[in-house]
Amino acid sequence: MKKYVIVGAGNRGTWMFGVPIARNYSHVVQLAGVYDINRKRAEFLRAETGLSFPVYDSFDEMLKDAKPDVVIVTTVDCFHHEYVIKSLEAGCDVICEKPLTIDADKLNRILEAEKRTGRKVTVTFNCRFAPFYVRVKELLREGVIGKVLSVHFEWFLDTSHGADYFRRWHRQKKNSGGLLVHKSTHHFDLVNWFLEEEPEVVNAFGTRRFYGPTREKRGERCLTCAYKKECEFYLDITQGNLKKLYLDCEDADGYYRDRCVFADEIDIEDSVSVSVKYSGGAVMSYSLTAHSPYEGLKLVLNGTDGRLEVDNFHGSIGPFAGRDVRNVRLYNRRGEEIIYHIPRATGEHGGGDERILRALIEGLKEDPLGQMANSRAGAMSVIIGAAANESMKQGKSIRVRDLLNYDLFA
Ligand SMILES: NC(=O)c1ccc[n+]([C@@H]2O[C@H](COP(=O)([O-])OP(=O)(O)OC[C@H]3O[C@@H](n4cnc5c(N)ncnc54)[C@H](O)[C@@H]3O)[C@@H](O)[C@H]2O)c1
Repeated sequence: MKKYVIVGAGNRGTWMFGVPIARNYSHVVQLAGVYDINRKRAEFLRAETGLSFPVYDSFDEMLKDAKPDVVIVTTVDCFHHEYVIKSLEAGCDVICEKPLTIDADKLNRILEAEKRTGRKVTVTFNCRFAPFYVRVKELLREGVIGKVLSVHFEWFLDTSHGADYFRRWHRQKKNSGGLLVHKSTHHFDLVNWFLEEEPEVVNAFGTRRFYGPTREKRGERCLTCAYKKECEFYLDITQGNLKKLYLDCEDADGYYRDRCVFADEIDIEDSVSVSVKYSGGAVMSYSLTAHSPYEGLKLVLNGTDGRLEVDNFHGSIGPFAGRDVRNVRLYNRRGEEIIYHIPRATGEHGGGDERILRALIEGLKEDPLGQMANSRAGAMSVIIGAAANESMKQGKSIRVRDLLNYDLFA
């Protein structure tokens, strides 16, 4: 039986890994320890699993004492590299939540450690396991539009989901790399996976004009805010899992889950526009908005034999709540329009979470679509966001080769 430990006992550590592993995989996996800088949250994770593995006060001690085969890294993004590298050096394989890390320097350090130690990092791109995206991948593999020449991709987060990135650690680039790394890593990975090409040149623009200090009536946090009754962004953390995971634990580390989305310290963009040129010649235009009235994506792939239009949107707020559209439309050069209706999958992240967890733990007998993401895939998605950040800073296009050391790939 393999021993797994978890570092980072927040939402993902608890609900994506700790609890489902304890419930469904205790015949193949022994959970052997958990570490978080907030011991209370680590204890909560353990209690939710119903198991009695140790809660450690130090990550190094956990590695030494529990001697895990696999380390699951689910901390705040900017610390991923520290735990990934230490785990590899201790002889463990790593399952790392997306994004693999937040900038090119940390990325190169992870790749160097992986090559040096011969251990393996897998990145949890759960979208690759969601049946909706799997179907798109299958259609592309079937060649329904021939070779893909260009991609137009818009992702829009609504003011419920989108606002959440402006309440806590994600809202500072030093923690998350901004949405272009933290969030877009999913989207860039999907395009890289669909195209089976790697990014070469990136150009980006970004602004933050919706969240941040754009409003007079604001406070430090929702819990104590004088405007909570009138603010549409009020988040109640006094109930349910938000209370248990965050409010009840905040005295240990000052992590407030409900900080004001109109705070001065927010330095990430809420609207971005990115262009990417790929190694096989494809070009992509991509945009992300974090303040839309409803949520989803519009993806267009133009190929030598036709065009695939992918719509996936769902409302969670206001009049758009309950809206649920999942269409893939093919227009080919024979003049046909073919509409694929892809049934709704149950489970978190379009059904991707439970499917990727099974694959991570039991392995895939075969992987014809290349769903498992290694460190190279993790790197290729992070590097688009990292290059986009550089592009916005320097005001010019950035060559991936100038950031990423290709000699470090194992
Ligand atoms: N694959 C997905 O769809 C998906 C969805 C959400 C989040 N994520 C990723 O999962 C990870 C965790 O996100 P979350 O939503 O659970 O966040 P969270 O804020 O709920 O949890 C983060 C945890 O990390 C702990 N932590 C902070 N600094 C630490 C440090 N230096 N050492 C150890 N622990 C530390 C915090 O105390 C907290 O318990 C992030 O990397 C995020 O990008 C992935």
